[in-house]
Amino acid sequence: PTGRVDDALARPLHDLRISVTDRCNFRCVYCMPKEVFDKNYAYLPHTDLLSFEEITRIANVFVAHGVEKIRLTGGEPLLRKNLERLVGMLADIRTPSGRALDLTLTTNGSLLAKKARALKDAGLNRVTVSLDSLDDATFKRMNDVDFAVADVLRGIDCAHDAGLGPIKINMVVKAGMNDQEIVPMARHFRHTPTILRFIEYMDVGASNGWNMSEVIPSAEVVRRISDEMPLVPVDANYTGETAARWRYLDGGGEVGMISSVTQSFCKDCTRVRLSTEGQLYTCLFATRGHDLRALLREGRSDAEISNAVAHLWRKRADRYSDTRTINTSGIEPARKRVEMSYIGG
Ligand code: GTP
Ligand code: 5AD
Ligand code: SF4
Ligand code: SF4
Repeated sequence: PTGRVDDALARPLHDLRISVTDRCNFRCVYCMPKEVFDKNYAYLPHTDLLSFEEITRIANVFVAHGVEKIRLTGGEPLLRKNLERLVGMLADIRTPSGRALDLTLTTNGSLLAKKARALKDAGLNRVTVSLDSLDDATFKRMNDVDFAVADVLRGIDCAHDAGLGPIKINMVVKAGMNDQEIVPMARHFRHTPTILRFIEYMDVGASNGWNMSEVIPSAEVVRRISDEMPLVPVDANYTGETAARWRYLDGGGEVGMISSVTQSFCKDCTRVRLSTEGQLYTCLFATRGHDLRALLREGRSDAEISNAVAHLWRKRADRYSDTRTINTSGIEPARKRVEMSYIGG
Protein backbone atom coordinates (compact mmCIF):
# COMPACT_ATOMS: atom_id res chain seq x y z
CA PRO A 1 0.00 0.00 0.00
CA THR A 2 2.95 2.37 -0.10
CA GLY A 3 4.39 4.30 -3.00
CA ARG A 4 3.76 7.68 -4.58
CA VAL A 5 0.17 8.74 -5.00
CA ASP A 6 -1.49 11.47 -7.09
CA ASP A 7 -4.78 13.21 -6.32
CA ALA A 8 -7.77 13.63 -8.64
CA LEU A 9 -6.09 16.65 -10.28
CA ALA A 10 -2.79 14.77 -10.80
CA ARG A 11 -1.01 16.52 -7.94
CA PRO A 12 1.47 14.39 -6.00
CA LEU A 13 1.74 14.34 -2.21
CA HIS A 14 4.91 16.16 -1.27
CA ASP A 15 4.56 18.40 1.82
CA LEU A 16 3.16 17.52 5.20
CA ARG A 17 2.35 20.39 7.57
CA ILE A 18 1.86 19.34 11.16
CA SER A 19 0.17 21.56 13.72
CA VAL A 20 1.57 20.70 17.16
CA THR A 21 -0.60 23.03 19.24
CA ASP A 22 -3.72 25.13 18.73
CA ARG A 23 -2.49 27.69 21.26
CA CYS A 24 -0.54 30.86 20.67
CA ASN A 25 0.94 33.62 22.83
CA PHE A 26 0.01 36.21 20.15
CA ARG A 27 -3.46 37.37 19.16
CA CYS A 28 -2.82 38.53 15.61
CA VAL A 29 -5.89 40.36 14.39
CA TYR A 30 -5.99 38.39 11.13
CA CYS A 31 -5.59 34.99 12.81
CA MET A 32 -6.66 34.76 16.47
CA PRO A 33 -8.60 37.96 17.21
CA LYS A 34 -8.96 38.60 20.94
CA GLU A 35 -12.75 38.88 20.78
CA VAL A 36 -12.95 35.23 19.69
CA PHE A 37 -9.85 33.73 21.29
CA ASP A 38 -10.52 35.02 24.80
CA LYS A 39 -10.36 33.41 28.26
CA ASN A 40 -13.39 31.30 27.47
CA TYR A 41 -12.12 29.86 24.21
CA ALA A 42 -12.10 26.05 24.31
CA TYR A 43 -8.62 24.89 23.31
CA LEU A 44 -7.98 21.19 22.91
CA PRO A 45 -7.42 19.26 26.13
CA HIS A 46 -4.04 17.56 26.37
CA THR A 47 -5.36 14.02 25.85
CA ASP A 48 -6.76 15.06 22.47
CA LEU A 49 -3.34 16.05 21.12
CA LEU A 50 -1.40 13.56 19.09
CA SER A 51 1.61 12.35 21.02
CA PHE A 52 5.07 12.67 19.45
CA GLU A 53 5.00 8.92 18.85
CA GLU A 54 1.66 9.16 17.06
CA ILE A 55 2.86 12.10 14.95
CA THR A 56 6.01 10.24 13.97
CA ARG A 57 4.06 7.14 13.03
CA ILE A 58 1.79 9.17 10.74
CA ALA A 59 4.78 11.03 9.30
CA ASN A 60 6.36 7.71 8.34
CA VAL A 61 3.22 6.68 6.48
CA PHE A 62 3.29 9.95 4.51
CA VAL A 63 6.97 9.67 3.70
CA ALA A 64 6.30 6.24 2.22
CA HIS A 65 3.75 7.98 -0.04
CA GLY A 66 6.18 10.58 -1.32
CA VAL A 67 6.38 13.31 1.33
CA GLU A 68 9.86 14.85 1.44
CA LYS A 69 9.18 17.99 3.38
CA ILE A 70 7.67 18.45 6.82
CA ARG A 71 6.78 21.79 8.36
CA LEU A 72 5.81 22.12 12.03
CA THR A 73 3.23 24.82 12.68
CA GLY A 74 0.52 25.75 15.14
CA GLY A 75 -0.69 27.96 16.76
CA GLU A 76 2.78 28.72 17.99
CA PRO A 77 4.71 25.44 17.72
CA LEU A 78 7.39 26.46 20.22
CA LEU A 79 4.73 26.47 22.94
CA ARG A 80 4.55 22.66 22.70
CA LYS A 81 6.66 21.21 25.50
CA ASN A 82 9.87 19.41 24.50
CA LEU A 83 9.28 20.10 20.83
CA GLU A 84 12.94 19.37 20.15
CA ARG A 85 12.23 15.75 21.04
CA LEU A 86 9.72 15.54 18.19
CA VAL A 87 12.17 17.30 15.88
CA GLY A 88 14.75 14.65 16.72
CA MET A 89 12.29 11.84 15.97
CA LEU A 90 11.29 13.35 12.60
CA ALA A 91 14.91 14.06 11.70
CA ASP A 92 15.62 10.32 11.92
CA ILE A 93 13.07 9.48 9.19
CA ARG A 94 14.47 8.55 5.78
CA THR A 95 12.70 8.69 2.40
CA PRO A 96 12.41 5.46 0.37
CA SER A 97 15.55 6.58 -1.47
CA GLY A 98 17.40 7.02 1.81
CA ARG A 99 17.41 10.79 2.16
CA ALA A 100 16.60 12.87 5.23
CA LEU A 101 13.53 15.14 5.09
CA ASP A 102 13.48 18.89 4.63
CA LEU A 103 12.43 19.71 8.18
CA THR A 104 11.23 23.24 8.88
CA LEU A 105 9.12 25.23 11.31
CA THR A 106 6.94 28.34 11.16
CA THR A 107 7.07 30.48 14.31
CA ASN A 108 6.22 33.97 15.56
CA GLY A 109 9.79 34.18 16.82
CA SER A 110 8.95 35.00 20.43
CA LEU A 111 10.70 31.93 21.84
CA LEU A 112 13.45 31.54 19.26
CA ALA A 113 16.15 33.22 21.30
CA LYS A 114 15.62 30.54 23.92
CA LYS A 115 15.11 27.55 21.62
CA ALA A 116 17.00 28.01 18.34
CA ARG A 117 20.11 26.14 19.45
CA ALA A 118 18.27 23.11 20.81
CA LEU A 119 16.12 22.90 17.67
CA LYS A 120 19.17 22.97 15.43
CA ASP A 121 20.92 20.36 17.54
CA ALA A 122 17.85 18.12 17.29
CA GLY A 123 17.99 18.24 13.49
CA LEU A 124 15.76 21.12 12.37
CA ASN A 125 16.96 22.53 9.02
CA ARG A 126 15.33 25.97 8.76
CA VAL A 127 12.77 28.32 10.29
CA THR A 128 10.25 30.78 8.86
CA VAL A 129 9.44 33.68 11.15
CA SER A 130 6.28 35.80 10.99
CA LEU A 131 6.88 39.54 11.31
CA ASP A 132 4.35 42.09 10.15
CA SER A 133 6.06 45.39 10.87
CA LEU A 134 9.27 47.04 12.05
CA ASP A 135 7.33 49.75 13.79
CA ASP A 136 6.52 48.85 17.39
CA ALA A 137 3.15 50.57 17.55
CA THR A 138 1.98 48.88 14.34
CA PHE A 139 3.38 45.50 15.32
CA LYS A 140 1.75 45.65 18.74
CA ARG A 141 -1.55 46.62 17.18
CA MET A 142 -1.29 43.50 15.02
CA ASN A 143 -0.06 40.94 17.57
CA ASP A 144 -2.38 42.52 20.18
CA VAL A 145 -0.30 41.29 23.13
CA ASP A 146 2.20 44.14 23.32
CA PHE A 147 5.09 42.09 21.93
CA ALA A 148 8.04 44.23 20.78
CA VAL A 149 9.68 44.11 17.35
CA ALA A 150 13.17 44.00 18.88
CA ASP A 151 12.43 40.68 20.58
CA VAL A 152 11.45 39.06 17.28
CA LEU A 153 14.55 40.49 15.59
CA ARG A 154 16.68 39.04 18.39
CA GLY A 155 15.02 35.65 17.82
CA ILE A 156 15.80 35.86 14.11
CA ASP A 157 19.45 36.64 14.88
CA CYS A 158 19.67 33.69 17.28
CA ALA A 159 18.17 31.36 14.65
CA HIS A 160 20.66 32.65 12.12
CA ASP A 161 23.59 32.17 14.53
CA ALA A 162 22.38 28.65 15.35
CA GLY A 163 22.55 27.75 11.65
CA LEU A 164 18.80 27.69 10.97
CA GLY A 165 19.12 29.89 7.87
CA PRO A 166 18.49 31.01 5.26
CA ILE A 167 15.57 32.36 7.24
CA LYS A 168 12.33 33.39 5.59
CA ILE A 169 10.15 36.16 7.03
CA ASN A 170 6.39 36.10 6.45
CA MET A 171 4.62 39.45 6.47
CA VAL A 172 0.84 39.38 6.17
CA VAL A 173 -0.20 42.65 4.55
CA LYS A 174 -3.50 44.11 5.74
CA ALA A 175 -4.60 47.34 4.07
CA GLY A 176 -4.78 50.29 6.43
CA MET A 177 -3.02 48.32 9.15
CA ASN A 178 0.56 47.67 8.05
CA ASP A 179 0.76 48.39 4.32
CA GLN A 180 2.84 51.51 5.06
CA GLU A 181 5.45 49.04 6.34
CA ILE A 182 5.92 47.26 2.99
CA VAL A 183 8.79 49.44 1.80
CA PRO A 184 10.57 49.80 5.19
CA MET A 185 10.46 45.99 5.63
CA ALA A 186 11.89 45.51 2.13
CA ARG A 187 14.66 48.03 2.86
CA HIS A 188 15.50 46.36 6.18
CA PHE A 189 15.96 42.83 4.81
CA ARG A 190 17.63 43.86 1.55
CA HIS A 191 21.30 42.88 1.34
CA THR A 192 20.83 40.26 4.09
CA PRO A 193 20.59 36.46 3.68
CA THR A 194 17.03 36.67 5.02
CA ILE A 195 14.20 36.35 2.49
CA LEU A 196 11.16 38.52 3.09
CA ARG A 197 7.81 37.29 1.77
CA PHE A 198 4.63 39.33 1.51
CA ILE A 199 1.41 37.39 2.08
CA GLU A 200 -1.95 38.57 0.83
CA TYR A 201 -4.39 38.68 3.72
CA MET A 202 -6.56 35.58 3.29
CA ASP A 203 -10.11 34.60 4.19
CA VAL A 204 -9.04 31.61 6.28
CA GLY A 205 -11.09 30.50 9.26
CA ALA A 206 -14.32 32.10 10.31
CA SER A 207 -13.32 34.73 12.85
CA ASN A 208 -11.10 37.35 11.21
CA GLY A 209 -13.92 39.17 9.45
CA TRP A 210 -12.05 39.10 6.15
CA ASN A 211 -12.97 41.62 3.52
CA MET A 212 -11.55 41.94 0.00
CA SER A 213 -11.04 45.68 0.52
CA GLU A 214 -8.35 44.88 3.12
CA VAL A 215 -6.26 42.89 0.64
CA ILE A 216 -3.35 44.61 -1.09
CA PRO A 217 -2.72 42.66 -4.30
CA SER A 218 0.87 41.46 -4.66
CA ALA A 219 1.15 43.36 -7.94
CA GLU A 220 0.70 46.54 -5.91
CA VAL A 221 3.33 45.42 -3.37
CA VAL A 222 5.81 44.83 -6.21
CA ARG A 223 5.01 48.24 -7.67
CA ARG A 224 5.56 50.06 -4.37
CA ILE A 225 8.91 48.38 -3.76
CA SER A 226 10.05 48.72 -7.37
CA ASP A 227 9.47 52.48 -7.32
CA GLU A 228 12.41 52.76 -4.95
CA MET A 229 14.28 49.46 -5.42
CA PRO A 230 13.64 47.93 -8.85
CA LEU A 231 12.62 44.26 -8.88
CA VAL A 232 12.67 41.63 -11.63
CA PRO A 233 10.92 38.24 -11.59
CA VAL A 234 12.88 35.04 -10.95
CA ASP A 235 11.95 31.43 -11.77
CA ALA A 236 10.49 29.29 -8.97
CA ASN A 237 12.81 27.03 -6.97
CA TYR A 238 10.38 24.15 -7.44
CA THR A 239 6.90 23.56 -8.89
CA GLY A 240 4.19 24.40 -6.44
CA GLU A 241 6.22 26.99 -4.54
CA THR A 242 3.79 29.24 -2.67
CA ALA A 243 5.81 32.37 -3.24
CA ALA A 244 6.54 33.99 -6.59
CA ARG A 245 10.18 35.15 -6.42
CA TRP A 246 11.49 38.60 -7.32
CA ARG A 247 15.07 39.84 -7.08
CA TYR A 248 16.51 43.30 -6.74
CA LEU A 249 18.07 44.48 -9.97
CA ASP A 250 21.13 45.73 -8.09
CA GLY A 251 21.89 42.38 -6.44
CA GLY A 252 20.29 43.18 -3.07
CA GLY A 253 18.78 39.71 -2.74
CA GLU A 254 15.22 38.50 -3.25
CA VAL A 255 11.67 38.83 -1.94
CA GLY A 256 8.63 36.58 -2.38
CA MET A 257 4.94 37.28 -3.05
CA ILE A 258 2.39 34.80 -1.71
CA SER A 259 -0.73 35.73 -3.64
CA SER A 260 -3.34 33.26 -2.59
CA VAL A 261 -6.11 35.77 -3.31
CA THR A 262 -5.14 37.41 -6.61
CA GLN A 263 -2.98 34.69 -8.20
CA SER A 264 -3.92 31.39 -6.65
CA PHE A 265 -1.53 28.46 -6.78
CA CYS A 266 -3.82 25.45 -6.33
CA LYS A 267 -2.82 23.90 -9.65
CA ASP A 268 0.40 22.53 -8.15
CA CYS A 269 -0.64 22.27 -4.49
CA THR A 270 1.05 19.25 -2.97
CA ARG A 271 0.35 20.15 0.67
CA VAL A 272 -1.54 18.15 3.24
CA ARG A 273 -2.19 19.29 6.81
CA LEU A 274 -2.41 17.35 10.05
CA SER A 275 -4.24 19.15 12.85
CA THR A 276 -3.15 19.08 16.48
CA GLU A 277 -5.67 16.35 17.24
CA GLY A 278 -4.88 14.23 14.23
CA GLN A 279 -7.45 15.35 11.68
CA LEU A 280 -6.15 15.31 8.13
CA TYR A 281 -7.04 18.30 5.94
CA THR A 282 -6.44 18.21 2.21
CA CYS A 283 -6.87 21.99 1.86
CA LEU A 284 -6.23 25.03 4.04
CA PHE A 285 -9.83 26.03 3.42
CA ALA A 286 -11.41 22.63 3.98
CA THR A 287 -14.60 22.49 6.02
CA ARG A 288 -13.85 19.06 7.47
CA GLY A 289 -10.94 16.80 8.21
CA HIS A 290 -10.42 13.06 8.28
CA ASP A 291 -9.80 11.44 11.62
CA LEU A 292 -6.44 9.68 11.54
CA ARG A 293 -6.17 9.67 15.32
CA ALA A 294 -9.18 7.37 15.53
CA LEU A 295 -7.39 4.87 13.29
CA LEU A 296 -4.28 5.03 15.46
CA ARG A 297 -6.17 4.67 18.72
CA GLU A 298 -8.36 1.85 17.38
CA GLY A 299 -5.17 -0.11 16.92
CA ARG A 300 -5.12 -0.20 13.13
CA SER A 301 -1.96 -1.39 11.43
CA ASP A 302 0.45 0.80 9.47
CA ALA A 303 -0.81 -0.85 6.29
CA GLU A 304 -4.41 0.07 7.08
CA ILE A 305 -3.50 3.67 7.86
CA SER A 306 -1.41 3.83 4.72
CA ASN A 307 -4.34 2.61 2.63
CA ALA A 308 -6.66 5.15 4.19
CA VAL A 309 -4.24 7.99 3.44
CA ALA A 310 -3.73 6.89 -0.17
CA HIS A 311 -7.49 6.63 -0.62
CA LEU A 312 -8.08 10.15 0.74
CA TRP A 313 -5.37 11.68 -1.41
CA ARG A 314 -6.55 9.96 -4.61
CA LYS A 315 -10.01 11.47 -4.12
CA ARG A 316 -8.69 14.97 -3.41
CA ALA A 317 -10.00 17.68 -5.75
CA ASP A 318 -9.56 20.79 -3.55
CA ARG A 319 -8.77 24.07 -5.24
CA TYR A 320 -10.37 26.59 -2.96
CA SER A 321 -8.27 29.64 -3.85
CA ASP A 322 -8.94 29.08 -7.53
CA THR A 323 -12.68 29.19 -6.93
CA ARG A 324 -12.84 31.65 -4.02
CA THR A 325 -14.12 34.55 -6.11
CA ILE A 326 -17.46 32.77 -6.43
CA ASN A 327 -17.74 32.55 -2.64
CA THR A 328 -16.60 36.07 -1.84
CA SER A 329 -18.86 37.70 -4.36
CA GLY A 330 -21.78 36.39 -2.36
CA ILE A 331 -23.07 33.87 -4.90
CA GLU A 332 -22.51 31.08 -2.42
CA PRO A 333 -22.94 31.57 1.34
CA ALA A 334 -19.68 31.70 3.31
CA ARG A 335 -18.71 28.20 4.35
CA LYS A 336 -17.84 27.07 7.85
CA ARG A 337 -14.08 26.80 7.67
CA VAL A 338 -11.57 25.65 10.27
CA GLU A 339 -9.29 28.17 11.93
CA MET A 340 -5.73 28.50 10.69
CA SER A 341 -4.40 28.33 14.26
CA TYR A 342 -5.96 24.87 14.53
CA ILE A 343 -5.05 23.45 11.16
CA GLY A 344 -1.67 25.19 10.86
CA GLY A 345 -0.59 27.85 8.37
P1 GTP B 1 9.06 27.22 1.86
O1 GTP B 1 8.91 27.46 0.40
O2 GTP B 1 9.81 25.99 2.21
O3 GTP B 1 9.58 28.38 2.62
O4 GTP B 1 7.64 26.94 2.47
P2 GTP B 1 6.19 27.50 2.27
O5 GTP B 1 6.19 28.77 1.53
O6 GTP B 1 5.37 26.38 1.76
O7 GTP B 1 5.71 27.68 3.76
P3 GTP B 1 5.22 28.81 4.66
O8 GTP B 1 4.68 28.19 5.87
O9 GTP B 1 6.28 29.80 4.88
O10 GTP B 1 4.01 29.42 3.86
C1 GTP B 1 3.87 30.76 3.84
C2 GTP B 1 2.42 31.18 3.88
O11 GTP B 1 1.82 30.87 2.65
C3 GTP B 1 1.56 30.46 4.89
O12 GTP B 1 1.67 31.03 6.15
C4 GTP B 1 0.20 30.69 4.32
O13 GTP B 1 -0.22 32.01 4.63
C5 GTP B 1 0.47 30.58 2.84
N1 GTP B 1 0.25 29.22 2.37
C6 GTP B 1 1.06 28.16 2.55
N2 GTP B 1 0.54 27.07 2.00
C7 GTP B 1 -0.63 27.45 1.45
C8 GTP B 1 -1.63 26.75 0.75
O14 GTP B 1 -1.55 25.56 0.49
N3 GTP B 1 -2.71 27.47 0.33
C9 GTP B 1 -2.83 28.77 0.57
N4 GTP B 1 -3.91 29.37 0.11
N5 GTP B 1 -1.92 29.47 1.26
C10 GTP B 1 -0.83 28.81 1.69
N1 5AD C 1 -3.96 35.50 5.87
C1 5AD C 1 -2.68 35.30 5.48
N2 5AD C 1 -1.75 34.74 6.24
C2 5AD C 1 -2.11 34.36 7.47
N3 5AD C 1 -1.39 33.79 8.47
C3 5AD C 1 -2.23 33.58 9.50
N4 5AD C 1 -3.46 34.02 9.22
C4 5AD C 1 -3.41 34.53 7.96
C5 5AD C 1 -4.37 35.14 7.10
N5 5AD C 1 -5.63 35.36 7.46
C6 5AD C 1 0.04 33.49 8.37
C7 5AD C 1 0.88 34.08 9.47
C8 5AD C 1 2.05 33.20 9.54
C9 5AD C 1 1.52 31.89 9.09
C10 5AD C 1 1.46 30.91 10.20
O1 5AD C 1 0.25 32.13 8.55
O2 5AD C 1 1.33 35.35 9.26
O3 5AD C 1 3.12 33.63 8.73
FE1 SF4 D 1 -0.18 33.13 16.55
FE2 SF4 D 1 0.91 32.95 14.12
FE3 SF4 D 1 -1.74 33.16 14.39
FE4 SF4 D 1 -0.22 35.24 14.97
S1 SF4 D 1 -0.44 34.28 12.95
S2 SF4 D 1 -1.92 34.47 16.23
S3 SF4 D 1 1.59 34.30 15.82
S4 SF4 D 1 -0.49 31.45 15.08
FE1 SF4 E 1 -3.79 24.06 -1.80
FE2 SF4 E 1 -6.23 24.56 -0.89
FE3 SF4 E 1 -4.28 26.40 -0.72
FE4 SF4 E 1 -5.35 25.77 -3.10
S1 SF4 E 1 -6.39 26.74 -1.39
S2 SF4 E 1 -3.17 26.03 -2.63
S3 SF4 E 1 -5.71 23.56 -2.82
S4 SF4 E 1 -4.35 24.41 0.33
